Amino acid sequence: MRKTLDRDKMPRHVAIIMDGNGRWAKKKQLQRIKGHEAGIKAVERTVEYCAKTGIQVLTLYAFSSENWRRPALEVRALMKLLRLFLRRETARLIKNNIRLQAIGQLYRLEPVVRAELKKAMDKTSSCTGMVLNLALSYGSRDEIIRAMKHFFQELESGGKDLAALTPETFHDYLDTAGLPDPDLILRTGGEYRLSNFLLWQAAYAELYFSETLWPDLAESELEEIFLDYQHRERRFGMISEQLS
Ligand code: IPE
Ligand code: IPE
Ligand code: MG
Repeated sequence: MRKTLDRDKMPRHVAIIMDGNGRWAKKKQLQRIKGHEAGIKAVERTVEYCAKTGIQVLTLYAFSSENWRRPALEVRALMKLLRLFLRRETARLIKNNIRLQAIGQLYRLEPVVRAELKKAMDKTSSCTGMVLNLALSYGSRDEIIRAMKHFFQELESGGKDLAALTPETFHDYLDTAGLPDPDLILRTGGEYRLSNFLLWQAAYAELYFSETLWPDLAESELEEIFLDYQHRERRFGMISEQLS
């Protein structure tokens, strides 16, 4: 069994549910927000490692459409951290040729946050390396309903035919239009659920659950996870013999 990464078999799209910041802080008897701050460092490490190993798309679940239900103070602190991250990281993204993108109900973000996000996306728009896709105020069910509404509007206005709706064309209406489906979905923090993340796109994703709390995720574990992915057989409904 290989012990080093095969660069020809890297997942094209890695999507991560970055969970466990609050518990990380609690364990250290710190406030939850300190966990989110430490989480940003793990984001920086992960972005760098994924870009270095040839991942094409990295989607990070940073804030769910359900996370608005958290205490206002925590929501405010998370939004502030997001702004700081965008402001601080843009130069490094450009340097590493990384293009920033976002999915989710971006209209729900505060105007100042939206402006910072737009600025970062504009500045990195001509980068041709990895795509860093931030899921912000993102929820999969909401995304699917928005996509359906968009399709039905086109149907009503006569621009579309119902027969044109297929799993492939439906993807063009989702926030992830233009991106490949995730090959690997990783959740840290020891919970075994998807929490409304990429439900449609996850159809054939390989799932990996780590007990590590997000701020503690190191490069070495990411390497182990990618190695584990490379040892899996993705059959897409077929049988082993058909794959070679
Ligand atoms: C994930 O960590 C970050 C966000 C959801 C924004 P949590 O804040 O959910 O951490 P736990 O699950 O409470 O430990
Ligand atoms: C999922 O984590 C959302 C993000 C990581 C941004 P949560 O901590 O919100 O998920 P639940 O509530 O435990 O399912
Ligand atoms: Mg959590």
